[in-house]
Amino acid sequence: MTTATENTRPPRIAVVGSLNMDLVLQVQHAPGPGETVLADALHLVPGGKGGNQAVACARQGAQVFLFGRVGDDAYGRTLRAGLDADGIDHSGVQTDPAVTTGVAAITVEATGQNRIVVVPGANGRFVLDANALHATLQGAGGLVMQFETPMPQVLAAAAQARSAGCPVLLNPSPIQPLPAALWPLVDILVVNEVEAAALANQNVASPADAAQAAQALRTKGPAQVVVTLGAAGAVAADAAGCRYHPGLVVQAVDTTAAGDTFLGALAVALARGEALDAAVRDGIRASALCVIQPGAQPSIPTRPAVAHSPQPPAWTAL
Ligand code: RIB
Repeated sequence: MTTATENTRPPRIAVVGSLNMDLVLQVQHAPGPGETVLADALHLVPGGKGGNQAVACARQGAQVFLFGRVGDDAYGRTLRAGLDADGIDHSGVQTDPAVTTGVAAITVEATGQNRIVVVPGANGRFVLDANALHATLQGAGGLVMQFETPMPQVLAAAAQARSAGCPVLLNPSPIQPLPAALWPLVDILVVNEVEAAALANQNVASPADAAQAAQALRTKGPAQVVVTLGAAGAVAADAAGCRYHPGLVVQAVDTTAAGDTFLGALAVALARGEALDAAVRDGIRASALCVIQPGAQPSIPTRPAVAHSPQPPAWTAL
């Protein structure tokens, strides 16, 4: 039986993923092939999809356990200090003496559009500590992952979560085909329109396209699929059908970590027992706040900020 105390306990979320130091180049426009441009500024900002997702979950009130790998260097130490500031348990983040911490070179244009190139560094040598993850997954409300750590480790973590009865939430970014063994282990797949198009092998240019792609992806295993559409919102698909959730109109300055913020807010809402549509609305509100601030982790909003932000328009069935 669930007690009142259990209901108020923060949800517990495990994140397996990457940690990067983002080298952010603020430019008027990104260079084309063979072109040289001058940047207006360079900023060093904590990032990495795994780190961002962990921060997004923590700022939504979850108790977060992060598993990853950094180098034995200043970037790694700075990233750990940031995780400490957000109360994230990073005892599962290994220190690699042989390679440097992951780095992402990011250009952000005046329009807020970004381009990202990642040097994996220590992320590429992450090896799952199965015992530590096993302990964390007991009673966890979700395991959140992406594709910036080696695929065998992602697969192993997903299999462990399935055995522990913990829902697996996956954003397959940077996009690559999912191994056949991974599809049935994923409970909630969150993809943007580019990732949805690649995985469903179809064009995704409208909410109707996204709904079609989402239903095709559900047949591969995930019971719930969410396709994010940037400023246009998101499409949610489950056994009940597809719903289109319109986005919020905001002045974006930097879209970095918007997807990670969406996933974190969605994961925590679901872990609290919210329905998929309510969780998608939380994701839309959190990512709308993220894009109006520069940088990855500094732009990720807190739960009170999301709670006080505008509500998106009502969803419609597709
Ligand atoms: O999703 C945004 C993140 O992608 C950046 O923080 C960068 O580090 C890359 O991993």
